[in-house]
Amino acid sequence: MKILITGGAGYIGSHTCVELLNAGYEIVVLDNLCNSCEKSLDAVKKLTNKDFPFYKVDLLDYAATEKVFEENKIDSVIHFAGLKAVGESTQIPIKYYHNNITGTLNLVDIMQKHGVYNLVFSSSATVYGMPKTVPITEDFPTSTTNPYGSTKLMIENILKDVYAANNKWSITLLRYFNPIGAHKSGIMGEDPKGIPNNLLPYVAQVAVGKLEYIHVFGNDYPTPDGTGVRDYIHVVDLALGHLKAIEKKTNQTGVHTYNLGTGHGYSVLDIINAFEKACGKELPYKIEPRRPGDIAECYADPTKAKKELDWEATRTITEMCEDSWRWQSNNPNGFNE
Ligand code: NAD
Ligand code: UFG
Repeated sequence: MKILITGGAGYIGSHTCVELLNAGYEIVVLDNLCNSCEKSLDAVKKLTNKDFPFYKVDLLDYAATEKVFEENKIDSVIHFAGLKAVGESTQIPIKYYHNNITGTLNLVDIMQKHGVYNLVFSSSATVYGMPKTVPITEDFPTSTTNPYGSTKLMIENILKDVYAANNKWSITLLRYFNPIGAHKSGIMGEDPKGIPNNLLPYVAQVAVGKLEYIHVFGNDYPTPDGTGVRDYIHVVDLALGHLKAIEKKTNQTGVHTYNLGTGHGYSVLDIINAFEKACGKELPYKIEPRRPGDIAECYADPTKAKKELDWEATRTITEMCEDSWRWQSNNPNGFNE
């Protein structure tokens, strides 16, 4: 079975490529490298000892994307490609809507033209907006608080319409919680451009001495220690969730929605603590005002994925921090060593 991975050079995509190749799938990678570099794919090849075609193609380029389908007999697509920075999406919303939505429309149109009806889409817990309670199940109401989140929810709705119009489709919507960590080898991990927005890469860069201290956004939330609580999930567990989606849902027509999270919430201070243990040093932090738009608590009820995909996250917060630290300390400048 041959799987096209859009956005395969990115953080989650590259880890998924490794697991797919190790499980014996053939892959083709498409990425325009706007937020990644080809060195991540070199790491994938090194870790698996396998080769695969890579197309440096933008999904907004319809003809170039279609050529990938003409040159390869694709059975399924895992669609990671998209812009993902929440803050940036509020500054340049048109770019976000155009890239994420038009890119997906092009992809789905081309898939249908070529008779490829199996799609796994990277959605996000962001589609739950401000959930009233936790843990979150898939049937919670959806809403969004920023343009990035809106692109995810719009794409989910577009894909539901695509299925309604043509019941040949098997579409799996995977709603990720907070992916962190890195491949155990220490040669592949998250490589954010500029100053990281997300907690983990920020903490890792403080630990390695590239940033001075951690900004803790608020300690007056109604949580055990007052700081924000999230469902951090190891990126390799997340990658394995995609394998299960491919295994269980290929040619199972319909729209299938799953939370990919651990079901456990950790606070910002829990994470700092776990990272201190992993790196063996104390990490300076300052309590600052809440970040606008942040919610107090967000964690998954992952029961549906366990029941229907036979998937469960197994890696602990200790492992997530240790793996992240191994990658960060071996490669303080990411892939640009
Ligand atoms: P990433 O930025 O590392 O990977 C996305 C990849 O898509 C990049 O390599 C980028 O170059 C590529 N890309 C973007 N636009 C493209 C286009 N028009 N054509 C071709 N390639 C394009 O991000 P990631 O963390 O690996 O996230 C992967 C997916 O998962 C994204 O859709 C993201 O929105 C979603 N997601 C991520 C998180 C998270 O916290 N990392 C959480 C929930 C959902
Ligand atoms: N935080 C800090 N300091 C920082 C960064 C974050 O204290 O420098 C706090 C936040 O306030 C929050 C927690 O750490 O309480 C996690 O924040 P992140 O920015 O790492 O992650 P978010 O939960 O805000 O958002 C992430 C992705 C979204 C995605 C969402 C749900 O960035 O795209 O998870 O999957 F939608």
